Amino acid sequence: MIKVITYGTYDMLHYGHIRLLQRAKLLGDYLVVGVTSDDYDKTRGKINNKQSLMERIEAVRNTGYADEIVVEEYEGQKIDDIKRMGIDIFTVGSDWEGYFDYLGEYCKVIYLPRTEGISSSQIRTEKRKLRIGIAGVTSFIGKFINEAKFVNGVNVSGIYAPGHEELYGLSPASSYSDLLGEVDAVYVVSEPRRHYQDIKAALSAGRHVLCESPVALSSGECSELFSMARERGLILMEGIKTAYSTAYARLVLLAKSGKIGHVVSVDSVCTSLEEDTTGTSWNAMCKWGPTALLPVMQILGTGYRSKTFFTKFSDERTNSDAFTKIDFVYPSAVASIKIARAAKSEGTLIVSGTKGYIYVPAPWWKTDYFEVRYENQERNNRYFYQLEGEGIRYEIVVFAKSVELAGGGGVISEEVSRTIAEIASDFNDRKDMVTFS
Ligand code: CTP
Repeated sequence: MIKVITYGTYDMLHYGHIRLLQRAKLLGDYLVVGVTSDDYDKTRGKINNKQSLMERIEAVRNTGYADEIVVEEYEGQKIDDIKRMGIDIFTVGSDWEGYFDYLGEYCKVIYLPRTEGISSSQIRTEKRKLRIGIAGVTSFIGKFINEAKFVNGVNVSGIYAPGHEELYGLSPASSYSDLLGEVDAVYVVSEPRRHYQDIKAALSAGRHVLCESPVALSSGECSELFSMARERGLILMEGIKTAYSTAYARLVLLAKSGKIGHVVSVDSVCTSLEEDTTGTSWNAMCKWGPTALLPVMQILGTGYRSKTFFTKFSDERTNSDAFTKIDFVYPSAVASIKIARAAKSEGTLIVSGTKGYIYVPAPWWKTDYFEVRYENQERNNRYFYQLEGEGIRYEIVVFAKSVELAGGGGVISEEVSRTIAEIASDFNDRKDMVTFS
């Protein structure tokens, strides 16, 4: 019996795939089809499959050509599979010509001509063309525009940021309402004090919103915007890129799973020493506060009993804080964050538990790695994950998917967004604050 194996993603199965499977089957008597897992696809840079692994497997099964289906989960698995299953022929489309010659050591390698004129990427692009406009300007807009290029079906098509648009080669809109007229969604990066009005205008015009944190500067305004989005069937998503990094998401789950015992403290530090070249007034509270607060709120929840700000202002009139430390007391834990734009510290995240702790090295907010450490060092574990584009790319994928599916997918709950807005508001009101000079 001649055994044949082929691998692929098979997202939105099309006739190119079917023809490939048909010809692969004819090469022998028994066809094994390897379908890539979502995690493996991520490590290969394929991040926006429209269908889940189960749906893709089901579609391959329904073609009737596969005698057996395996999931491809790791680099090097092909060699393992070929040896384990006694495969005689490995085959893929000619778009991979030469790439798998190394498998010739284990079995025969055949490249079948690729069907012209069709691909999953093309179908995804045709199906979902989300035009995103940018409202406002910050230092990382360039990164956002670049990362959006990796996401099929998303097109950053305009900007409204008087005086700055030439920096990014985008067609500038003459007013915010003009921009809203030309796009399906906006990425709001205006100054934090403008977020409420900019989001409200976008939602009123029927546009979806991805907003750089914080969504608003009071919890009341934040709730109002979320209700407005819900009533109109629109997506309002808070953009904290770290929330979309796999390492971060996994460490939150790990902390909650009891692996380090009961969590007694979450301590996060985010600082930068940088000149604001965009001329806007993102203070440390708005620039770093939401990111630093994220693990506190996502691990311990939003129900803290009390908090105290310790702030050194560089200019109190403009609310510009050089350095702020916030201490939180929860019913059975404590937390602290340190944020700064004019002071520097080690940007680590430490989650302390009764059995061990999670350590994320600096800069923790864009890490692909963390450690779980115990008293007995032999039990220590290191966890590595792929991180593309500091999380921005995944954030755009999740946003585009939420728009397409009309909901779901967001990883920052409305309650966390509201609490972040409430803390920003207390900061502005100098509530629970001790200042020093
Ligand atoms: N294939 C083919 N003809 C096409 C598209 C794909 O023969 N028009 C083959 C590929 O060469 C591969 C298999 O089908 O052997 C699975 O391909 P996959 O990467 O899942 O599909 P693509 O449509 O190429 O996906 P993408 O656009 O995301 O790269």
